[in-house]
Amino acid sequence: MSSPVTDIRLITVDDAGAITAHLRRDAEVTARWDPARTRDYHTLDGQRRHIERMLDRHRHGASWPAVILDGQTVIGQITVQEILLGAWRKASIGYWIGTPHQGQGHATRAVGLVLRLMARDLGLHRAEAVTQIENTASQNVLRKNGFLPIGIARSRIFTAGAWHDEIMWERLLEE
Ligand SMILES: CC(C)(COP(=O)(O)OP(=O)(O)OC[C@H]1O[C@@H](n2cnc3c(N)ncnc32)[C@H](O)[C@@H]1OP(=O)(O)O)[C@@H](O)C(=O)NCCC(=O)NCCS
Repeated sequence: MSSPVTDIRLITVDDAGAITAHLRRDAEVTARWDPARTRDYHTLDGQRRHIERMLDRHRHGASWPAVILDGQTVIGQITVQEILLGAWRKASIGYWIGTPHQGQGHATRAVGLVLRLMARDLGLHRAEAVTQIENTASQNVLRKNGFLPIGIARSRIFTAGAWHDEIMWERLLEE
């Protein structure tokens, strides 16, 4: 069997079907990490509208929303968000991989690809990310891509009925 290939490309509204299928199947697992979503978020039309809003922010230079691919198959999402230029030239990244595709190095490779895009195509200087303390898989993804922890932000996200502390991460893109 050939080893998996990972790629990223800008999301399109046509990706809504594949993304909705992942979100519905994994809703119970991701509820631990994700903020509560409206019912609409898990519908095809809701995802289409969500992607249109993401692409609108992209047209205004605020983000670079991508799908993660294994060959031609959409297996997750990675987004460069909160792009800030001027004296900062920084952005933060967020990502997920559908459960059947986890544990094969896709997130690690997708973060590597997006860091290259941030440095070369977006001209950014700094990448930031945030993980919950218990999310060791995501912390491994960041460490393997040269991110270092900056510190702990207390009570920063409300998920699964409680406030959770989060670890803040940074990676200087010229390093
Ligand atoms: C975090 C996530 C993106 C990792 O995706 P992935 O494609 O499985 O990651 P990789 O295959 O690149 O593996 C990265 C590391 O995490 C480890 N890992 C994978 N699943 C794990 C788990 N459930 N628990 C602990 N470590 C895990 C892998 O072993 C690997 O480390 P290693 O190379 O030292 O062995 C995925 O689990 C996910 O989508 N989780 C839900 C959403 C989420 O947490 N997003 C990030 C928010 S900050």
